[in-house]
Amino acid sequence: MDLDSLGLKWYFYLYTSSKGLDLSLHNDLGQKKRLFEDFLNTFLLEHDNGTGLYKACAYSMTSPGKRLRPLITMLSCESAGGQAEDTLYAGLAIEMIHTFSLIHDDLPAIDNDDMRRGMPTCHSKFGEPTAILAGDSLIFLAIETVFASGYATEIKMDLLRAIGDMCGVGGLVLGEYKDIMAEAKDVTLNDVEQIYLNKTSRLFELSAYAGSRIAGAGQREITSLRHYGRELGLAFQAIDDILDITSTEDVMGKTVGGDMLKKKATIVRVLGMDAARKWAEERTGSAVDSISYMTSPAAGTLRKLARDLLGRIC
Ligand code: IPE
Ligand code: IPE
Ligand code: MG
Ligand code: MG
Ligand code: MG
Repeated sequence: MDLDSLGLKWYFYLYTSSKGLDLSLHNDLGQKKRLFEDFLNTFLLEHDNGTGLYKACAYSMTSPGKRLRPLITMLSCESAGGQAEDTLYAGLAIEMIHTFSLIHDDLPAIDNDDMRRGMPTCHSKFGEPTAILAGDSLIFLAIETVFASGYATEIKMDLLRAIGDMCGVGGLVLGEYKDIMAEAKDVTLNDVEQIYLNKTSRLFELSAYAGSRIAGAGQREITSLRHYGRELGLAFQAIDDILDITSTEDVMGKTVGGDMLKKKATIVRVLGMDAARKWAEERTGSAVDSISYMTSPAAGTLRKLARDLLGRIC
């Protein structure tokens, strides 16, 4: 895998993509993103077994994502008094689960999309069977990653329990299932909230939980940071659904316009565009408020990140 040539694509994409949120403009986030991606590249190369399956995993993992979830894990850890570096294994495991969800979300049987992170989707590049199996592999690689960390046994157990609770049949995958089952159906605001909570918020909440748990945070901080993750996830999916209508493939780096065609259950569909924007603003406000008592620079960055993400639709 030629990581350098992919690297050039990253920078082209990030510098040309304002809606893709240019983290390089934000010093602290830019540095943390580089720290994470160096770790990711080293970890992947250590697992290179020369197979097409590995190549498909590495292709999707190294494509230019915003890395929001590992960044939230780092910032949550720092907000609770820990070190960002200590979260690299947990952040990588979460990014693997996120990437699995993107690979499967793009498949012909789910959203049937051709572009992701400014590049052909995994199945467009490697074929559907390999993409399905690459997604499967990333789930198990995530488990391996948690085990490979130097975290205390209780922390490993808590992280794996949280991954099980929040990503599977009662979490992210359930959200994807509900999303597909709701296509072309009449849906209520509550239906949309349930879909968003599961398919998107769970991973943001998991990221915040992992960071605070690794920091050894107390219950109040863990609860607040989880709330931040949950509300940010709701806002994030609403913003994504608005941008699916108002933005372009070049800017987003992925296929857009499909939600309307497939009659997806989105906040815009149930509330209309103006009220959907307001709803995203309210969710962002709630995320920011839940950690307003935290005084560290990292907590300030989490609040700024939430506002910057909202800025993509304002
Ligand atoms: C895409 O997430 C999936 C949604 C929850 C809308 P991101 O927009 O964080 O995707 P990457 O990782 O930056 O590509
Ligand atoms: C899905 O939402 C989020 C996932 C769990 C993958 P979307 O289907 O709207 O995500 P995009 O727009 O393809 O990134
Ligand atoms: Mg989808
Ligand atoms: Mg999709
Ligand atoms: Mg979308």
